[in-house]
Amino acid sequence: MRPKVTIVGAGMVGSTTAQYLAQRNIADIVLIDIVENLPQGKALDLLEAGPVLGYDCLVSGANDYAATANSDVIVITSGSPRKPGMSRDDLLRVNMNIVRSVVEQAAPLSPNAVIIVVTNPLDAMCHVALETSGFPAARVVGQAGVLDAARFRAFVAQELGVSPRDVTACVLGGHGDTMVPLPRYSTVAGIPVTALLPQDRIEAIVERTRDGGGEIVRLLGTSAYYAPGAAVAEMVEAVLLDENRVLACSTYLTGQYGITNLYVGVPVVLGAGGVKRVIELELTEEERAALHRSADAVRTLVEAMRNL
Ligand code: NAI
Ligand code: 2OP
Repeated sequence: MRPKVTIVGAGMVGSTTAQYLAQRNIADIVLIDIVENLPQGKALDLLEAGPVLGYDCLVSGANDYAATANSDVIVITSGSPRKPGMSRDDLLRVNMNIVRSVVEQAAPLSPNAVIIVVTNPLDAMCHVALETSGFPAARVVGQAGVLDAARFRAFVAQELGVSPRDVTACVLGGHGDTMVPLPRYSTVAGIPVTALLPQDRIEAIVERTRDGGGEIVRLLGTSAYYAPGAAVAEMVEAVLLDENRVLACSTYLTGQYGITNLYVGVPVVLGAGGVKRVIELELTEEERAALHRSADAVRTLVEAMRNL
């Protein structure tokens, strides 16, 4: 039997994740949504693409959770996306209730699963999933850093006229305007970006990365889904194939980087069972202060949820 991945939310990010994951052919996929017929329709369409694209995993859709039992990974994308002019934080109340209700239904049926949270505001929603599931923190992780790093990589590659495959990037912090791209730890084939680009161009790329989600919202009228879906599929694969990938993920910190009891994006080793360990980088005073400012923004949201 293949591993099973449940994706809750058959909207843009959920269905795109399912598409990229199906193409990897490493797990059967169950799509769940509250909208009747939507997950069934998307799943059937994806299944019917298999003969052409050469995958043979099962893709099914449902409105109730019975079909999700014994999933190895549960991806949570259910919720409202950002609309123009709306911050990720505006989504707090509505998405908190959605994530809680989803986890209440999904987690008891798959008690050994790794939960990958995608719904925004991302780091705060990880807290909701952790508390509601009662899972160990290693098995509740958020997707943000892979996407934010992908945007940084794409912009660096464009600027230098090189393949994005040769660009690595490191983005710390919460998934929001305070995220902390780290040029010092971003490279082109091992060469630090700081040795290849002038400071003003690096600053422009850092700013564009921070605004990466907003740039797409302004163009599309809704939030991104291709790059987010690709990022989630990469994380799911890391878990299912026990790849020990070093990826920036929203992770529950217990003192690392001087941050305690909070989900913040940091590099981790991701494999079977979720987060195996946090990688602590040496930071300059300025980088550390920026990370702490970002963590403070996440903590404000987490505290705000207690009063909602
Ligand atoms: P979408 O509106 O296309 O899809 C959301 C889906 O969730 C809808 O089909 C809706 O019916 C479903 N849903 C709502 N309540 C539900 C419930 N209680 N149970 C099951 N399904 C439910 O939105 P999109 O674009 O897919 O975005 C989804 C979420 O992901 C948003 O919160 C968005 O901000 C976030 N996002 C996060 C990213 C990240 O990097 N972490 C990147 C892109 C989006
Ligand atoms: C993004 O960064 C909206 O979080 C979403 O595209």
